[in-house]
Amino acid sequence: MVATAATWSDDVTNPLRDGSHLEQPLDPCVVVIFGASGDLAKRKLVPALFNLARDNQLPAGFAVVGVARSPMTDESFREHMHQAVTEFGGEAVSETVWGGFARNLFYVAEDFANTRQPSALPSRLAAIDAQCGTRGNHVFYLAMPPSVYPDIVRLLGERSIAGPAAPAGGWKRIIIEKPFGRDLSSARALNETTLHVFAEDQVFRIDHYLGKETVQNLLVFRFGNGIFEPIWNRRYIDHVQITAAERLGVEDRGAYYEEAGAVRDMIQNHILQLLCLVAMEPPAAFDAEAVRNEKVKVLRALRPITPNDIDQFAARGQYAAGSVAGTPVPAYRGEPGVSPQSTTETYAAVKFLIDNWRWADVPFYVRSGKRLPKQVTEISIQFRRAPHLLFGGTPADRLEPNVLALRIQPDEGISLKFVAKRPGTGLRVRPVNMDFRYGSAFGVRTPSAYETLLLECIRGDATLFARGEWVEQAWAHVMPLIETWQNVEPSDFPNHEAGSWGPQEADALLARDGRVWRRL
Ligand code: BG6
Repeated sequence: MVATAATWSDDVTNPLRDGSHLEQPLDPCVVVIFGASGDLAKRKLVPALFNLARDNQLPAGFAVVGVARSPMTDESFREHMHQAVTEFGGEAVSETVWGGFARNLFYVAEDFANTRQPSALPSRLAAIDAQCGTRGNHVFYLAMPPSVYPDIVRLLGERSIAGPAAPAGGWKRIIIEKPFGRDLSSARALNETTLHVFAEDQVFRIDHYLGKETVQNLLVFRFGNGIFEPIWNRRYIDHVQITAAERLGVEDRGAYYEEAGAVRDMIQNHILQLLCLVAMEPPAAFDAEAVRNEKVKVLRALRPITPNDIDQFAARGQYAAGSVAGTPVPAYRGEPGVSPQSTTETYAAVKFLIDNWRWADVPFYVRSGKRLPKQVTEISIQFRRAPHLLFGGTPADRLEPNVLALRIQPDEGISLKFVAKRPGTGLRVRPVNMDFRYGSAFGVRTPSAYETLLLECIRGDATLFARGEWVEQAWAHVMPLIETWQNVEPSDFPNHEAGSWGPQEADALLARDGRVWRRL
């Protein structure tokens, strides 16, 4: 039985419907969440959809169907989700808005991957389409353990819910959460299975970094302003640093992290996405095809790191006990779910080179780790030094080069470091910053990455999602690291204290090139 449904427009005026809005009206649709009783649905997805509803961003006909094994009715699912939105939505929940949203929340209690039982999902979807006016437009969100992705995708096809056998009318899209495979061959296999049921333009491989405002702003900054692009190349840029530092440890995800490590967890996806956005050529248009073509070209030009080069191009670390922000924390090997002899890296630093005209000889140093002193993600573009020194009072090595820092989070913003004359007699200089801060410049609520990405998928725009080919190329680049590190056990783990900036080898990686990591 389908509970009473109402279209969204019964309660709230939808600005997407009136002509004053610049965007095309969105098609009505159902978002089906596989894994609806899990953490992702509770912490991110349903709060994101609710926030979109509150801001009148959802289409006129809209429903959410949760699918999971836990026995729940529509009513109890709604209660759970009300708690989730209250806890994780970020703002006080208006009960009027919640009432309208909740009426179109449904739940199907089943193990969809179990082939011995028929699925109730097709008939529920048909009934919900009829009641909510969602016209057979369905987004399937895989918020489950990655090991079941292939079965779910295959069964969506076999049960005629999506794919060539699905009833005519209405579009179907699938959102696949990271990790997209755990190595190159599993990523290829998952792409293949997925592309049996869905066409590439129906597949939305999520990387939540691409939904972050500041990451999108990177493209606007580069291609919406005339003054940066002419200097965005090897003539002016000495090197680039990308840091994704976390204060947190592995929390309750020890078992997952043991199998992943920093390269799989952060470098293969988020960090390489950032690198591509910094390094790509201007696309001919801001659309999925053009932008993603340029990003793939960057990965094609990325110099492969061979197993013999690993020590020259990468460093790994694992944190020992220490203290972060004044609080003592255990070693990684002492975290729940982690082996006391674990050789999993919780820190990785890599030097990438891009073999093309724009970037020849400009290293991109990237690093990411858990239990570092600060929670900060930043891209810094380090420019070449001024060619000739006029200011005798300042030693050459104190005349710092210009740095353009793009702060992805927190304190989102952009700053440019340059030197200025110190007030007073004599000509002495000192670095100063020109600062733009997102929060104070716009003063509006920033949507979460999941809000942005869910809306883009509903809109059918895959620009901010990873294309199959990109994912495979990214895996190909990190496989030598993963395999070599797996085969050659680290003799010195744990090799840095929690609360420090990673192992000495990471500093040596830059020191060999006469450079240092930026102090953050
Ligand atoms: C996830 C990783 O993809 O990104 C986590 O699995 C990591 O380990 C997280 O903590 C970082 O995301 P953010 O948005 O907090 O930088």
